Amino acid sequence: MKLGRRATTTLALLGTTVLMTAVQTVSAQAHDASLRDLAKQRGIRIGTAVNVDALADDSQYASVVGDQFNSVTAENVMKWETVEPSPGTFDFAPADTLVRYAARHHQEVRGHTLLWHNQLPGWLTDGVADGSITADDLRDILHRHITAEVSHFKGKIYQWDVVNEVLNEDGTLRDSIWSQKLGDSFIADAFRWAHQADPHAKLFLNDYNIESKGAKSDAYYDLVKRLRAQGVPIDGVGFQGHLDIQYDFPSDLADNMARFDALGLATSVTEADVRIPLPADEADLTRQASDYSGMLAACLATEHCTSFTVWGFTDAYSWVPGTFEGEGAANLYDESYQPKPAYTAVADTLAKQRPGHGHHGGHRH
Ligand code: XIL
Repeated sequence: MKLGRRATTTLALLGTTVLMTAVQTVSAQAHDASLRDLAKQRGIRIGTAVNVDALADDSQYASVVGDQFNSVTAENVMKWETVEPSPGTFDFAPADTLVRYAARHHQEVRGHTLLWHNQLPGWLTDGVADGSITADDLRDILHRHITAEVSHFKGKIYQWDVVNEVLNEDGTLRDSIWSQKLGDSFIADAFRWAHQADPHAKLFLNDYNIESKGAKSDAYYDLVKRLRAQGVPIDGVGFQGHLDIQYDFPSDLADNMARFDALGLATSVTEADVRIPLPADEADLTRQASDYSGMLAACLATEHCTSFTVWGFTDAYSWVPGTFEGEGAANLYDESYQPKPAYTAVADTLAKQRPGHGHHGGHRH
């Protein structure tokens, strides 16, 4: 595998321009090690979201997951519609496959996600809409779901995205079945129930567009402060990191993470990808590489930033083209599993000495 990876890296680099020459010298060394080896030396986890169908059907996909990453997140199969397709009936089979794969490959698992407004089963959304599920029912259903799922994976998940995407851009509570029926009480409840089911798992809030300081991330800052003051067992905040080269890089990401760190919270980059309006040219790929390494550098600069997870690693299976019209090419590898400049940039950033920390000195949890 090592030789193969070096060979493909070389091929990819041959296709780049003079611009990349400076980077090539460093990366020649960096690429002798996998991302997971480099990350280990930095005391950080490097993760990817995993498409379990691709993991089963595409051996090239599976070998990159195993070789390059030491943390995995289920891209879809731990979500409500998959896990509880009918009331009180649970299907953990696809997620179990991933958890077993991770154990075989000495990888940690990030659990994603217990409570969200998307990918809910029809019985739940329909029941709330037609009134057959009351507020009290919904609270019980949420309790049962969280307890069943967290208990099932107890001891096998190091971080859970307990609550996903609950705030609007202006910092107010997002309109959803949860907020409509339960106000904002469901957030504290979800964390308490998850903690009861697995006291050792680290429990996270997770959202997008909170990389920069602003209304939304300020509201998260206030929310976690309030929850902690109330004794709610919340351990961390996940910055999804879905970026787009059309917009400025969130250059205050490290500053922003630092204020959460100062509250005593862990942080993670949980879903990094950097989309490009298609077709992507050389300059776009260079900008993309810089955005990836910028996000990773912010995490490395933050004492308790525990992991950097990409939302898929190959353009072959990205969610981006199906969601953002005319955009794509968002990942570290292209559709043929050739590493892109972004891969090199991530490897180089991991290989750099972390200021104030020994090269092997990872004191992260
Ligand atoms: C996405 C998956 O990648 C897609 O396959 C699925 O169709 C929709 O969800 N924020 C999240 C993730 O927290 O769960 C989303 O994943 C991407 C945005």
